[in-house]
Amino acid sequence: MKRAYAVVTGASSGIGRELAMILAREGYALVLVARRTDALRELADRLLQAHGTPCVVVGADLALPGGVDSLVREVSERGLDVEFLVNSAGFGLAGAFDALPAGPQLGMIDLNVRALTALTHALLPAMVVRRRGYVLHVASMAAFQPGPLMAVYYATKAYVLSLSSALHEELRGKGVHVTALCPGYTETEFASRAADGPKPRLFEGPFGRGDPRQVAEAGFRAVKRGRAVVVPGLRNRLGTWFMLLSPRALQVRITRYINSSAA
Ligand SMILES: NC(=O)c1ccc[n+]([C@@H]2O[C@H](COP(=O)([O-])OP(=O)(O)OC[C@H]3O[C@@H](n4cnc5c(N)ncnc54)[C@H](OP(=O)(O)O)[C@@H]3O)[C@@H](O)[C@H]2O)c1
Repeated sequence: MKRAYAVVTGASSGIGRELAMILAREGYALVLVARRTDALRELADRLLQAHGTPCVVVGADLALPGGVDSLVREVSERGLDVEFLVNSAGFGLAGAFDALPAGPQLGMIDLNVRALTALTHALLPAMVVRRRGYVLHVASMAAFQPGPLMAVYYATKAYVLSLSSALHEELRGKGVHVTALCPGYTETEFASRAADGPKPRLFEGPFGRGDPRQVAEAGFRAVKRGRAVVVPGLRNRLGTWFMLLSPRALQVRITRYINSSAA
């Protein structure tokens, strides 16, 4: 029998890296994807030693045109059976919409939305044919309401949650599970990449600081159990329920406060 592969984008750090380690532990061979190939190779060596995991390292900028195509070509030319897809590559930008330059904000849409959609669209059909597959999209608690001062980021995550929930339903009974993982603030490189200047209150961890390993374990468990959405951590779940029950006018005022800096 051919070895089942998991493709993990954003495997060079944070939640994606933790998910890659979990998938190796669970017996998957891996395709590790990000721009920093040195970090991916280091992880590949570690997983080979720890679990004997075969790893294919793919250095790709998924925000660029052709980034996803080159990854899909690599998977296809090697004839890999992809059973598990993790779309974790993503970034946020903190600041007012009109003050942040357009280019990086559009780049966020290219990565968080376009690349995630294109890669899922490319790898899903084979899972449906085999009637076996898992797709884990790393969305965010940001998916549940608009996010003044991180407006485009929140909108990208709302898209990811919406797409995931729709695909989860479309694929019901077909043996393929799609899950949106919606973490709160988590200790990764995310915050330092999102803000050069004063940090939003969000990055001070007012609702706690998630551990990327625990977040990744929650995502893995949820997709294996066929859940549509998972918000890791009790405090985050309570916060999400509060937001969902609040009128939108209140949601945006609270989120604006959280996304502004205390300084
Ligand atoms: N940390 C949080 O508080 C938090 C909360 C909710 C949701 N999330 C979501 O969790 C996901 C993972 O983020 P993280 O927290 O683990 O942050 P992270 O440590 O910064 O990891 C981001 C990953 O995405 C990769 N990446 C970034 N730009 C890329 C590009 N253009 N092409 C290919 N890969 C790219 C990075 O690798 P390279 O730089 O090597 O390319 C890195 O592996 C993101 O989708 C983020 O929105 C994070």
